[in-house]
Order: sequence, then structure tokens, then C-alpha cells
Amino acid sequence: MITFYVIFGAILLFIAIWVVFLYSFTGGLVETFLHGEAPFVPTKSAHLPEIAKRMSLDEKSILYDLGCGDARILVACYRCQPKARYIGYEKDIVPYLWAKFRLWRMGLLKEIKVYRKDFFEADLSDATHVFLYLSTKQMESLEKKFGNEIKKNTRVLSLCFKLPNAVPSKSISLKEKKELYIYEYSCQKA
Ligand SMILES: C[S@@+](CC[C@H](N)C(=O)[O-])C[C@H]1O[C@@H](n2cnc3c(N)ncnc32)[C@H](O)[C@@H]1O
Repeated sequence: MITFYVIFGAILLFIAIWVVFLYSFTGGLVETFLHGEAPFVPTKSAHLPEIAKRMSLDEKSILYDLGCGDARILVACYRCQPKARYIGYEKDIVPYLWAKFRLWRMGLLKEIKVYRKDFFEADLSDATHVFLYLSTKQMESLEKKFGNEIKKNTRVLSLCFKLPNAVPSKSISLKEKKELYIYEYSCQKA
């Protein structure tokens, strides 16, 4: 009888995992195709050290990763500067749970805060650093949000996608023809 319950429980768990995965996957595809939202495509591991270095964090920095996926950018930056504050927002359930699991496994749940939330609803007014790896469409809406919210001298690093109006202070070519755009958010209130 116990074996029956164990097998039945395992089957239910398996089905539940698939339902969550399919819900997230199809929901993510709909958002991508209808609203131009970025899907979960993690930054390549080979790019992490360069991005973390270029972030130029210090002990007082507050870094937001908007659409943080599995939190790999936050973890890479934490490894370079453990005294800064790290916050990630992720809308999609699968990368969000994966990020939480990874942070738990690394013992970094307290040091790196990841929330399941639409970053357009987040308050970014205390950010000193922001990381983006999103989509052309989202960059347009974000530029408006930044114009209203973000404080002067905030350093914004964007992988692959430019803000439509702001001029990057630097553009760095990474491996595999990826471009990293760096904005010093002082001179570009549109
Ligand atoms: C291209 S991935 C980048 C993930 C991570 N930043 C990295 O570099 O590895 C973009 C992520 O943003 C998330 N995302 C897209 N729009 C979002 C929104 N409005 N609010 C929160 N997360 C969002 C997606 O679910 C996806 O996981």
C-alpha cells in the first residue's frame, strides 16, 4: 500500500511540474510574440566575468537586474563585490524558481534578493547600477521609466539592446559578436 502512495505521489508531482513548466513556457511565448517581451535566454557564462568587471561596483552599490532569469548576473557580480546590495526581478515562474533554488544551493538567499514581479512595477529610485538583457520593445518603455525614476550617475549596462535615445558612454564587444552598452545616467534625461 505504501508503495502505491509513493508511486501515486511521484506521478502527481511529475504532472504538477509539467503543468507549471508548460504554463510558463506557453505564457512566455505569448508575451514574447504579442508584446515583444524578452524570453528566458541566460547570458552566456563566458560573458559573466567581463560584465561583472565592467559593472564597477563598490561597497555602497545597489544593483538591479531587470528580468534576472536564473540570477547568474547577480551571482557573478556578488562574487566580485560581496558588500554591495543585489536585487533581481523576474516575471516568469520557471526561471524565478530556478534562481531561488540556485541561490539556496549557494547559500546566497540573504545576500541576493530575487522577487517574482514585473520590473515595470518596481521602484528603481535607489539603484546605483542596473543590468538589462531584454528586447528592443522593452528598451523603449524602460527609457521612459528611467527618465522619471532613476537617479543621476546610475550606471546602466545593457547586453545586446540599446536604449533608443540615450547615447552609451561606452560600447564593448564581447565574444561571439555580442555588444555590451554602458550608460552613465547623468546626461540623458530625455
Ligand atoms: C534574456 S533573459 C535575461 C536573463 C538574465 N538577466 C541574464 O542575463 O542571464 C530576460 C528575462 O527577463 C524576464 N522578463 C521579461 N520581461 C519582464 C518583466 N516585465 N518583468 C520581469 N521579468 C521580465 C524574462 O522572463 C527572462 O527571464
